[in-house]
Amino acid sequence: MGDDQAPQKLLRAPAGTHDVLWPESTRWEALLSRFAARAGRAGFGLVLTPVFEDAGLFRRGMGGDSDVVTKEMYEFADRGGRHLALRPEGTASVVRAFVQHRPPTPWKAWYAAQAFRYERPQAGRYRQHHQLGVEVLGTDDPDLDVEVVALAADFYGDLGLRRVTLALNSMGCASDRPRYVEALAAFLAGRAETLCDEHRERIGANPLRVLDCKRPECRAATEDAPRLIDLLDESCAAHLARVRAGLESLGVAYRIEPRLVRGLDYYTRTAFEFASEALAGAQNAVGGGGRYDGLVEAIGGPPTPGIGFGIGIERLLLACDAEGCFAVETPSAAVFVVDLTGGERARDLVAQLRRGGVGALRAYDDRSLKAQLKLADRSGARYAVIIGAEELATGVVTLRPLREDAAQERVPREEIVARLTTLAHPDGAGTATGTGP
Ligand code: HAM
Repeated sequence: MGDDQAPQKLLRAPAGTHDVLWPESTRWEALLSRFAARAGRAGFGLVLTPVFEDAGLFRRGMGGDSDVVTKEMYEFADRGGRHLALRPEGTASVVRAFVQHRPPTPWKAWYAAQAFRYERPQAGRYRQHHQLGVEVLGTDDPDLDVEVVALAADFYGDLGLRRVTLALNSMGCASDRPRYVEALAAFLAGRAETLCDEHRERIGANPLRVLDCKRPECRAATEDAPRLIDLLDESCAAHLARVRAGLESLGVAYRIEPRLVRGLDYYTRTAFEFASEALAGAQNAVGGGGRYDGLVEAIGGPPTPGIGFGIGIERLLLACDAEGCFAVETPSAAVFVVDLTGGERARDLVAQLRRGGVGALRAYDDRSLKAQLKLADRSGARYAVIIGAEELATGVVTLRPLREDAAQERVPREEIVARLTTLAHPDGAGTATGTGP
């Protein structure tokens, strides 16, 4: 019998993936709307790209020998034999969309998207995670680097995070990087025996990867490695100086981290990573990004500089938990309608209230007064509207405040919607007669 026909098997979300249920998802909603507001104020618009792309896009974009491409991509052939991959990150997809549609530059895009990486699942590392990100295409003005880094830094601040640090480096460019890679390769060749097995073999292919290795033997061996930051050409050095001056002017604290190379191959000049001191170990990066001035060309577009960042939402929320911040209150409806007359009045009244902009709930299945009042209390509603046989006969409803010590009162049926609308929106928002969805 096929696996999918086994009747007893309890199906669970695949390893490394998570369901986000309500009320936890209210934090996601709040996070997204705060990010959208902040990005919107800086001129960014939302961009949606497909969850899968031609696999070659990521190979070309992220570097054919990066771990994400060689070990972690979810690749598959579709029924038409196309070689596709689930997006492992957002940048290559957004850049592909830019090349395809050629919007006017500078083009500022933000996204909130799943990313898929076949990693060993552990706390803070998942096979499906979500990134909030921005990308800007069309200018290499270093003030934009400042803007982008500050956007992320300010967003962490918005959430109340105080223990996020920023590491900054320059990855150089086509004119100074080859010189550096040569110097680094020569340095590593003299220490090959002390490197981890994986990187001993890869010195030749991409020595920069060794700097990114988290194993203690590689970290020790590269302690005194030459620093790209010391070998930058004049324009890259000036770019970095302007970025640093801008961050200092805006009060964005950072430290220069000469070993920061990031795991993807497209970076040039500015590279940065945000880490949470409240999260332990290797999974403490809550965001990272940088400039990628050659990426558009690498995937077939005209030479166009770009910069962006990605923030892992799951890790960000873990960092918030660890710091005890960004606890979002679950919104509750203003009104709970208790109907003891068969349910039709509750049906109609909640619809009227909702159409008028007031959150309204009710019980189903003809429950007892006690059971309905219990549900009303549990729902967090501020008011219960009770409709019993007596109310029905006299054309009124009982309005009972649930969260304050005030007496209940009888209100004529035809006045209750207006009354509750005023109570729910004392500032005048919402209308009693609105018929919107
Ligand atoms: P990245 O550093 O690979 O960069 O990922 C960005 C963020 O996504 C990380 O800092 C981390 O918070 C989160 N993240 C990455 N992998 C996982 C995982 N397996 N589980 C949970 N969270 C994860 C990029 O992806 C670049 N596209 C960022 C960028 C945008 N660079 C320029 N523009």
